[in-house]
Amino acid sequence: MAYETILVETHGAVGLVTLNRPQALNALNSTVLKELLAAFAAFEADEAVGAIVLTGSEKAFAAGADIKEMQPLSFPDVVTGDFLGGWDEVAGIRKPVIAAVSGYALGGGCELAMLCDFIIASETAKFGQPEITLGIIPGMGGTQRLTRAVGKAKAMDLVLTGRMMDAAEAERSGLVARIVPADKLVEEALTAAAKIAAFSRASVLLAKESVGRAFEVTLAEGLRYERRQFQSLFATEDQKEGMAAFVEKRKPAFRNR
Ligand code: CAA
Repeated sequence: MAYETILVETHGAVGLVTLNRPQALNALNSTVLKELLAAFAAFEADEAVGAIVLTGSEKAFAAGADIKEMQPLSFPDVVTGDFLGGWDEVAGIRKPVIAAVSGYALGGGCELAMLCDFIIASETAKFGQPEITLGIIPGMGGTQRLTRAVGKAKAMDLVLTGRMMDAAEAERSGLVARIVPADKLVEEALTAAAKIAAFSRASVLLAKESVGRAFEVTLAEGLRYERRQFQSLFATEDQKEGMAAFVEKRKPAFRNR
């Protein structure tokens, strides 16, 4: 399928999506949303794909929701169309999605990175929620996911002042999983995704789902959920294979059974 705002490739068992609106620093408009969801849905349906990487350009992962698209919208427009509501679907992707972030990840760009499962950032990455400078507030999860990721103090600081934080501060704060050199960003993210894609698919999907539960339910509910998922994996051939391989001092050959 031909896309207008994204590039889509497959690298072995990894799907790679690159945001591609360089003239607008990858600002997120309704076409980007539609195309991103279509590309993710295709990777979800493709049994050969085990993990996904989402990246942007060296200058910008994404500089936010498209301000020029938003400018003319009225209150009835955004309410009746549930403007930005569709982005939540990114969080519903079951296969792991890694955000590989270089340059600006601002507003909706930061929120899109947080919709992914973890963020690998280059040294040049800059994160922020500058919506306050436009007379609005974050609308794709910034006040919620950022607060869960970095805590109240830093989330309040970023959301209320609109300032940016660099990669080092973002890693210190728990927003970013790892920082890598800018010229190695996509390579490192693809390597991490390939590693994930080589594990037993069922364990990967249940691991992602279980960590996600930690943000939605009580500790007791989450622990019970995790234990049941853990126990259910003993019904798979891959659990037998993984443990036999350890005991026999060889590499496991997972078959997604
Ligand atoms: N929407 C639409 N266009 C954008 C954009 C955005 N979010 N960010 C950048 N662009 C466009 C600029 O308008 C410019 O286009 P023109 O050449 O046609 O004027 C082009 O991208 C290059 O941008 P700059 O010339 O501004 O580049 P710079 O290097 O001088 O500055 C920047 C980079 C600091 C990121 C600056 O572009 C900027 O501040 N962008 C807006 C950031 C922002 O406010 N994001 C939040 C948007 S609201 C939101 O995201 C709501 C939500 O919660 C979902």
